[in-house]
Amino acid sequence: MADWNELGKVARNWTYEAAEQIKEALANPFKVEAKSGPDDLVTEVDKNTEAFFYNKVRETFPEHSFLGEEGTAEKLENTDGITWIIDPIDGTMNFVQQKIKFAISIGIYEDGVGKVGIVYDVMADEMFYAVKGVGAYVNEVELVAGKERPLNESIISLNARWLTETDHPHANPLLALVRDSRSVRSYGAAAIELAYVAADRLDAYVSVNLSPWDYAGAQVLLEEMGYRATSFSGETLSLLNGGTVIAAKPALQREIVSAYVGEEN
Ligand code: IPD
Ligand code: CA
Ligand code: CA
Ligand code: CA
Repeated sequence: MADWNELGKVARNWTYEAAEQIKEALANPFKVEAKSGPDDLVTEVDKNTEAFFYNKVRETFPEHSFLGEEGTAEKLENTDGITWIIDPIDGTMNFVQQKIKFAISIGIYEDGVGKVGIVYDVMADEMFYAVKGVGAYVNEVELVAGKERPLNESIISLNARWLTETDHPHANPLLALVRDSRSVRSYGAAAIELAYVAADRLDAYVSVNLSPWDYAGAQVLLEEMGYRATSFSGETLSLLNGGTVIAAKPALQREIVSAYVGEEN
């Protein structure tokens, strides 16, 4: 049986090592490419960071599987055994243009069950991590579950652009959700925003389209806190395919699904 505490320590040490390399790279010019459009960027730093983790996992745990955003490893067919799901830089646009608010995200799963979750905000030096059944932490401070707030006292995080996409089937429900909440924030890094929900800095995070590497790390944190993350229709998030995401404390999460973003809305 794997020692998840130990594996968590190894993953955190590699994360700090990768973060040093990212900070060095940030001090020099680097190549930026647009993938599907001007809001979908990748840099050589994303690719090198993913390769760094892939090589570490391959050398140290050859029996483990690996899924990363930039496609260093073969596509994942299933979630059997131990799988590392990594977003080498979450918030690449922030990384390129703002040079703050980006994270390394790692989720380690066994047979589809989240065991270790890491979201490291590199420039803020904030290490959010959880080990299933042990606890969730930010740096060395253990997170305690926050109290539920009614929606009109809740701060919701989402990308404001989705409110402008009026032909999107979820556009109107999101407008109503924004109107009924206390306020809205938008940080441009899903993993950080999900970690903020786990840390009770945000009450909910909503996205119309995320991939498994965006939420795999933070999901372990959310689960350890007893919070919920599902698709808009209330389904468990998949580790093989992405889609809509709503994460919050359990009562608020259920309310947002049933009264705002769920299929019947
Ligand atoms: C993106 C960020 C962004 C979210 C996008 C993600 P990336 O990840 O998390 O906040 O809105 O959907 O793709 O590409 O910067 O790793
Ligand atoms: Ca990306
Ligand atoms: Ca991402
Ligand atoms: Ca990324």
